[in-house]
Amino acid sequence: MVLLMKSKKIDTIINSIGNLPILPTIYMKLSRLLNTPDSSIKMISNIISEDQAIAAMVLKIVNSAAYGFYNKIGDLRHAIVILGLTEIKNMVLAASMYKIVKEFKSSSAFNMQEFWKHSTGCAILSRVLAETAYLKNPEDVFTGGLLHDIGKLIHAAYLCEEFNDVVANVVETGSQMSESEKKILGFDHAQTGGALAKKWNLPQETVNMIAHHHLSYMPDTLTKEIAAVHIGNSLCIALRMGSGGEKRVPIVNQKAWEILDLKLSDLEYVMQKSIKLFEESISIMEFE
Ligand SMILES: [Fe+2]
Ligand SMILES: [Fe+2]
Repeated sequence: MVLLMKSKKIDTIINSIGNLPILPTIYMKLSRLLNTPDSSIKMISNIISEDQAIAAMVLKIVNSAAYGFYNKIGDLRHAIVILGLTEIKNMVLAASMYKIVKEFKSSSAFNMQEFWKHSTGCAILSRVLAETAYLKNPEDVFTGGLLHDIGKLIHAAYLCEEFNDVVANVVETGSQMSESEKKILGFDHAQTGGALAKKWNLPQETVNMIAHHHLSYMPDTLTKEIAAVHIGNSLCIALRMGSGGEKRVPIVNQKAWEILDLKLSDLEYVMQKSIKLFEESISIMEFE
């Protein structure tokens, strides 16, 4: 009964999300188009161009040091050819998320700039972990990492007062944010984020990466993708890449570590590479 009430509350919150300046109509259209076999570069670039701020951001990212292209890439079609569709789709998602977080800045006590950095850091670490562990879809893991804490945005926007209590409780007690949320709200941001991703019709694997990123209980199937985001999140907090409001580094789940089958020396490589990519990415996305 209690569980039913909680899931009802999450659904009520999620259903009011239509009011948010939210997710990426462009991203949705792009995903649909990429599943169509005869989609052309022109069609894809036209969709991205529908939002000039996002189009400009994609070009800015492509031309950043992180990609290391010698010649400047001046138009989207060229960028799509060079980077490929999955990479472009993820860039659109990152640019859209950035736009959303930036718009949220003034409406919440939660530090959005730090939150953005934490999301970016976790996305990068998760992707590099996925690459190092030879997962077949590191770009999808990047998406999971980027969106893993999106539930916090929903809480900050829709449950403002309670969320401020949660943030204060974390500071006071040193609890993990999800523990304070469960105590004060009855559910945590992983559950809200998972429900939101489902509403956005994101792939089930993305929903799972978001909903299970804490591994506070074991999902039916622990995938390597979930493990990568789980570890990426802990590393991101340990390395202080931004902040999602946590005061303690979450303990890495033993099973998640085992399933990725990495050596400690791999971890050193993952951290060094990610720190470099992180510094390059945030230097091109500054909040005023
Ligand atoms: Fe989280
Ligand atoms: Fe996080």
